[in-house]
Amino acid sequence: MADFDVLITNGTVATASDTFKSDVAVRDGRIVALGHGLGTANRTIDADGMLVLPGGIDAHCHIEQESSTRIMTADDYYSGSVSAAFGGTTTIMPFAAQHRGQSLRDVVKTAHDRAGPKAVIDYAFHLIISDTNERVMGQELPGLIMDGYTSFKVYLTYEKLKISDRQMLDVLALAREHGAMTMVHAENDDVISWLTERLLTGGHTAPKFHAVSHARIAEAEASRRAIDLARLVDASLLIVHVSEPEAAKAILDARNNGLDIYGETCPQYLFLTAADLDRDGMEGAKFCCSPPPRDTAAQDAIWRGLSNGTFQVYSSDHAPYRYDETGKFNAGPNPTFKKIANGVPGLEVRMPLLFSEGVGKGRLNLNEFVALTATNAAKIYGLHPRKGTIAVGSDADIAIWDPQWQRTITVDMMHDNMDYTPYEGRQVTGWPRIVLSRGRVVVEDETLQVERGSGAFIERHPAPAKSDTSRLQPELDPARNFGAKLL
Ligand code: URP
Ligand code: ZN
Ligand code: ZN
Repeated sequence: MADFDVLITNGTVATASDTFKSDVAVRDGRIVALGHGLGTANRTIDADGMLVLPGGIDAHCHIEQESSTRIMTADDYYSGSVSAAFGGTTTIMPFAAQHRGQSLRDVVKTAHDRAGPKAVIDYAFHLIISDTNERVMGQELPGLIMDGYTSFKVYLTYEKLKISDRQMLDVLALAREHGAMTMVHAENDDVISWLTERLLTGGHTAPKFHAVSHARIAEAEASRRAIDLARLVDASLLIVHVSEPEAAKAILDARNNGLDIYGETCPQYLFLTAADLDRDGMEGAKFCCSPPPRDTAAQDAIWRGLSNGTFQVYSSDHAPYRYDETGKFNAGPNPTFKKIANGVPGLEVRMPLLFSEGVGKGRLNLNEFVALTATNAAKIYGLHPRKGTIAVGSDADIAIWDPQWQRTITVDMMHDNMDYTPYEGRQVTGWPRIVLSRGRVVVEDETLQVERGSGAFIERHPAPAKSDTSRLQPELDPARNFGAKLL
């Protein structure tokens, strides 16, 4: 009988901290040994010339989810998870999204019903909270956190999702008390709707005006405000899909001041600009997402943020709406920018784009790449050390990465259910040849090797609650300058 199920030999292993030559032995879905001369295996994979990387964790993707205007994403849990796997991602964290009036328990059940029979890789759910009624805040949310749904996204914009600052404080305080992480979509809704109204009244309806209406100041202001709200109640906060330098600076300043503030950015803010929204005809609709891509100076700032500690997480924010009446043109064939479905696809290209332009061009080292694409998300969202690293005892979620593989991205090579990719024609170097999830070969020879539904839900646990509640009542002691003390 062989010692191991799988043995990966001759590769270069990279984690968030180290790069070293080692074989990797896998048994019963877990990594059981690292080193050389480890023993025999049922399957030996020669990874000579390859990088052996932790499979990616895409901690922000919208799959089989209805938008606030009830448009269903183009990808279900099958196409979404297959697409992720082909790009080296082995864990996805989509959303169980609450629309107002819905029970959180019900939306979690729906998410399980959708994912269980279809996902080919592992998954966990964030919640989206749009309704902070008494039942949600008093019973459902604390109960769900106890059950391991330990992260949730709230919105400061979108008519049907947004919560007020007061509601945000309630959510943050609850998250703090129960050991959960709040994620925020930070854009100032009034600024956006005010600009939108003026633009539309002036006849400025084309897709490019989406980027004008979602002004940078709207994002910067809401990001600073969200940080201050978190600061007020001493809660952790992660600002998702950051697109522009002022918001990035606010996050870095907060971290440098000792606050528990995290940042996420996405490929669209590194590889697209607002000029893409000004393509011919309605083509710009393909690039409408919120926040929108900015300019090349903003791209540079976001790149800097990936290596200077601003951003811990790099996610796709995959929000797939096809360039047809099921998606982008759900409101009709020639909609104003306000009615174009928001979101871009990116699950499959997330890691290859960052590897090629980041590691390949010397902007990031390999360990930073691993941290940003896998390890940090695993730590922040309670999946580590089971996920996000290559270590004895961790799940054997591994991307055997060919750093020399040159590919040109086209919609035809994608495995999602989209009819376009915003990155059409872009050349990248580096792509995974073989992808393993819990020791199972999921992708090899550019072919899917597993059945639908073979992915698993990954349980999480709440972090220890912060026990010092004194910071929650600073105003009771006027002699104590809370803000100055904390900062
Ligand atoms: O435009 C985007 N990002 N659409 C998806 C929903 C969200 O805000 O994350
Ligand atoms: Zn968002
Ligand atoms: Zn999103």
